[in-house]
Formats: sequence, C-alpha cells, structure tokens
Amino acid sequence: MSEHRVKIDSIAKATPEKVLSNADLEKIVDTSDEWIRTRTGMVERRISNENTAASDLVYEAAEKALKKSSIKARDIDLIVIATVTGDHPFPSTACIVQSKLGIHGCPAFDISAGCSGFIYAITIAKQFLQNGFVHNVLVAGVEILTKITNWKDRGTCVLFGDGAGAAILTEAHKGEISEIIDTFISADGKYGNLLIQEAGGSRMPASKETVEKNLHTVYMEGNKIFKIAVKSMGDAADIILTRNGFTGEDLDWLVPHQANLRIIDATAKRLRLLPQQVIINIEKYGNTSSASIPLAFAEAVEDGRIRRGDLIVLDAFGAGLTWGSVLLRY
Ligand code: ACO
Repeated sequence: MSEHRVKIDSIAKATPEKVLSNADLEKIVDTSDEWIRTRTGMVERRISNENTAASDLVYEAAEKALKKSSIKARDIDLIVIATVTGDHPFPSTACIVQSKLGIHGCPAFDISAGCSGFIYAITIAKQFLQNGFVHNVLVAGVEILTKITNWKDRGTCVLFGDGAGAAILTEAHKGEISEIIDTFISADGKYGNLLIQEAGGSRMPASKETVEKNLHTVYMEGNKIFKIAVKSMGDAADIILTRNGFTGEDLDWLVPHQANLRIIDATAKRLRLLPQQVIINIEKYGNTSSASIPLAFAEAVEDGRIRRGDLIVLDAFGAGLTWGSVLLRY
C-alpha cells in the first residue's frame, strides 16, 4: 500500500482576553517583575474567565483554522486534542469539540503528554493520514492551566497561561511543497513525579483533604526539570534534523515550546541558530503547555513571518517526562 504525504493545511489560535501581568502577580505572591523577566522571559500571560473551558478555546481556534482552509467541518474524519486540562476527566474534550462543530461519527480522542502534547498529536494524526485511514484531521493543543495553578506557590504560579492552537492536517498532493517530513517522540516516566497534578485520579481521588492541601494543582521541581529540558529539547531537534540530512543552518524557523527563554536560547545555541530563526512569544503568553507550539506557530503565520514552504522544526518538552520534535515544510 502506498503511503500518503501529509501537510498542515491551516493553523489558528485562540486566547482569553484577560491579561495577567507580572505587576499583577507581584500583588499575589512574593515575586518581582525583574525576577520573572530575567529567570523566564515572561512579561504577561492570558487567563480565562470562570465560564471558559478547554473545548471553548479549541472550538474558537478550530473555526478560525477551518475558515483558512478549503476543508469543511463535515470533511473532518479524526479529532486529536492534546491537553492535561480538558473540560472533564471524561468525556474527552475532543468529543465535546466534535459536538460543538456540529459533526458526528468521526473518531475523537484526547492525548496527555504535557507540554509535548501537540508534537504527540501531530505524530498520531500523521500515521492515520499516511496510511489512508483518514483524510482530514483536526489536531489541537489546549490548556487552561490557570485553573489548576497553586496561587500560593511563587515557583509555579508566575509561569502558566491559557490558550489553544488548532491545525487542519490533510493529504499533500503531488508537486506540493508543504509536507510533515518526520516526527520524533520520546518519554522517560522515571521523572514523572517532578511535574505532577497529584490528586484527582485513581491514585488519590478528590477529597476534602486533597483540596485543602492544594494537591489538585501543578507541582513542579523546576530547577531539576530545567537541565533535563535543555538536554532533551536539544536532542529532539538534533535527532530530527540529522536523520533527515539537515543542520540548523537549513532551518527557516525553530518553533520551540515556550517554557523558559533560557531553555529556548540554549536549544537555539546548540543548533547554532541565529535569533531571527526562532519564534518566541513567551513574553505575551507564558507557558501554555500543549498550546504553546501551535499558538506560536499560528501567530507567526498570521503576522507573515512563517510562509508556505518554510523549513521548520517544532520542539517540545513536558510532563511525563516527554519530549519530541516535528520537521516540516509549512
Ligand atoms: N519570584 C521570586 N523568586 C522566586 C520565584 C518567583 N516567582 N520562584 C522561585 N524563586 C526563588 C526560589 O525560592 C529560590 O530562592 P532561594 O535561592 O532563596 O532558595 C530562587 O528563586 C531560585 O529558584 P529556582 O527554582 O532554582 O529558580 P530557577 O532559576 O530554576 O527558575 C524556573 C525556576 C523558572 C521554574 C525554571 O527552573 C524552569 O523554567 N524550569 C523548567 C520548567 C519546564 O521546562 N517545565 C516543563 C514544561 S511545563 C509543563 O509540562 C506544564
């Protein structure tokens, strides 16, 4: 059976309107604008209101992506959503989005891979498209992390923001330059406890005590993760370039997960990239986990930096621990 080539047909983003600045955070915990800027590169982030859930942001981003594509909602035959902050533990946010889009019958599921979620989701969608099992896939990354943030923990609460990005993946026809060339995903579960939402699952069901102890919020040992993140993101980008015969010099863009400007800079340095080859928007949105790569990608397409045919590496690292990369021509 011949394999189909796959491309990203369109991509779009959705973010809540409300902005939470470093100055706002100074009023909540013992922190400073200077510490947050110099240690993370973040200046502000978006925060959703109490009525907004993950599916609302995905739906908004998906509608925008569909408008930019010739593919209609009724043509979508698979939905894959990367999130760790879905509307509910079940049903999946993908099923809720399917219903919001007014379509029925196509398979729809969520995947959990922390901040690497969008890379994992693209990898899964590519396989389904490549083998001809489906023709058009909605892939999204979404996170409402501010609803599982411990607002008393200055080590984490300054980092996270909300947002979503959605892409329509479809077959690349003969002669088209756009193509998802290769994907790489990896994980090491032995580090799982360094970044965890401890309660709310079968290990530690929700109780009065878990709520009182803030165990439904993000726990992260940031400085231990930092070193692993730098190495894994560098490795992931290096592996995908090398095995496809490219170097950093060939790249138009690196679109990295936006967790920390120092991690992004270290990755860019390892690949010998110039600053003008790296898409960065961490100063506006903070760390939006699964949403960060599609959000940065969509924004750069909107403002004309990323153009059709550009050679791009998407590169992520997150809870699990997980990491991965995608090499594509947009
Ligand atoms: N304001 C002021 N001081 C602070 C703050 C704050 N918001 N947070 C921590 N500090 C203090 C600490 O208490 C500590 O003080 P001490 O030296 O007196 O003990 C000092 O700053 C240094 O703390 P570190 O945690 O060592 O700071 P670091 O430079 O490592 O920065 C950070 C922390 C930003 C979290 C960084 O470690 C990081 O980015 N880690 C990687 C995060 C990541 O990649 N996560 C994976 C993806 S996220 C996901 O999947 C959801």
